[in-house]
Amino acid sequence: MLDDKKVLYSGMQATGNLTLGNYLGALKNWLTLKDEYECFWGVMDLHSLTVRQVPAEFRKRARNLLILYIAAGLDPKANCIYFQSHVSAHAELSWLLNCFTYMGELNRMTQFKDKAAKHADNINAGLFTYPVLMAADILLYQADYVPIGKDQKQHLEITRDIAERFNGLYGDVFTIPEPYIGKAGAKIMSLQDPSKKMSKSDENVNGSIYLMDDADTVVRKCKRAVTDSDSEIRYAEEKPGISNLLEIYSSCMNKTIEEAEKEFDGKGYGDFKLAVAEAVNSVLGPMQTEYERLQKEKDFIDGIIKENDEKAAYYANKTLRKVRKKLGLTEKPR
Ligand code: TRP
Repeated sequence: MLDDKKVLYSGMQATGNLTLGNYLGALKNWLTLKDEYECFWGVMDLHSLTVRQVPAEFRKRARNLLILYIAAGLDPKANCIYFQSHVSAHAELSWLLNCFTYMGELNRMTQFKDKAAKHADNINAGLFTYPVLMAADILLYQADYVPIGKDQKQHLEITRDIAERFNGLYGDVFTIPEPYIGKAGAKIMSLQDPSKKMSKSDENVNGSIYLMDDADTVVRKCKRAVTDSDSEIRYAEEKPGISNLLEIYSSCMNKTIEEAEKEFDGKGYGDFKLAVAEAVNSVLGPMQTEYERLQKEKDFIDGIIKENDEKAAYYANKTLRKVRKKLGLTEKPR
């Protein structure tokens, strides 16, 4: 692609409120990749429809996620930041790839099993073929790398299987994507139950710090965070609460865990928690200010959306045309 840079593709669903875990675990690392790779960052709004959404809220949330990407520092000029649903090639390729995906493969997806159990009243076919749409996302842009968390690894594997199967039948159509193994993003756990990941869908709102939480809320949540029985501030398996707070602190301050441990040597949990809250606020504050500013720049954001939709569609349609041709679909007269 452009400048012979390798292509990197990732995105987040427009579901729920993003947490500090999403930022420190994913977004913050995305920022470091923008110059080295040709990056596509999608707002995965089609995937969100596998669970019921309230239309008016959903519309706002999807737009807000795109604005948040930019407020967090992703560069819509250097990279492509766009809505999945604005590029119809995603839905089209997803159908075509459905015909190259086996029920048995999809049946093995652990996320499907988990989600089906959670939404027993709405186990729709979209939930089942979710990984095929994800394969379409990635393959349309001929992505070399996909930065993803552990929970999406199985989906990347099936993407590779589908692509290899297709290439085996029709020649080299798709780049086979690999997981991006860069500097691992911090893994942030719930403040209330450090054995669980900090999650957008946690019922206990005190477990998660949301990116839009105000400074006082952050202080309150940090103060309430569960700790461990002794009073030492050190990183250890038997101290999951304090270890998690150390992880948050060092990640926000761009320090190593060892540096953080030294800094708080001999200090009490109370002081430490306040310092963690301050560190979090030093990251969230400027992001929120920028987010509020961008909210008011409607024309500017609309312009970015338009430009990036076109950029994405250009690459996606190129792949789609190739696929259509290989499959023997009739050509559209010009
Ligand atoms: N399924 C991903 C998640 O929930 C989001 C996603 C959709 C995605 N399509 C993708 C991630 C393509 C990477 C590449 O996190």
